[in-house]
Amino acid sequence: MKITLTTKNDRETLSLAKSLGPYLEPGIQLLLDGDLAAGKTVFAKGVGAGLGIEENIKSPSYTLLCIYEGRLPFYHFDTYHLNGIDDFYDLGFDEYLDGDGVALIEWASVVRDGFPYGFIAVAMEKFPEDENRRRLTFTAVGAEHQRVLKEWQEHEHIGL
Ligand SMILES: Nc1ncnc2c1ncn2[C@@H]1O[C@H](COP(=O)(O)OP(=O)(O)OP(=O)(O)O)[C@@H](O)[C@H]1O
Ligand SMILES: [Mg+2]
Repeated sequence: MKITLTTKNDRETLSLAKSLGPYLEPGIQLLLDGDLAAGKTVFAKGVGAGLGIEENIKSPSYTLLCIYEGRLPFYHFDTYHLNGIDDFYDLGFDEYLDGDGVALIEWASVVRDGFPYGFIAVAMEKFPEDENRRRLTFTAVGAEHQRVLKEWQEHEHIGL
């Protein structure tokens, strides 16, 4: 299953991501990819809002991980500065996967090889001719993540 859609500005990306909030469950992983300024952090802010987090969600590009408390714990990673999944384990970050909260990883292609659990992948692409437009492609690996993606699509009429 694959969902492809475009957003026309950052507010649309924010509200799209926010609409995912109610469908997220403990142990859901969101793996985001896309070039610099593709909108990964904007998407993360939307997910955070959808989980009822009121704190300002900031890019974890230097801290690598930010933890927030909402309806569920929210673990926001940026793996740009890592070399692979082994670094992720060395930092003890696997402790936050498949657990009590929702994990979102920016630059997830870095840790995709050998990633130990299912996930929803979100690929974000810019359009050369329109600086405010983004194409988002959602796919899911694993039965649980496929079910969550499907429920979101069906109930919110996403990409239909
Ligand atoms: N449709 C859109 N969706 C998301 N962001 C958009 C869109 N159009 C324009 N933008 C702008 O693009 C920028 C995206 O920045 P953001 O920090 O979210 O990117 P990022 O992918 O997290 O970058 P980085 O690789 O540095 O982490 C913001 O300035 C945002 O306002
Ligand atoms: Mg970012």
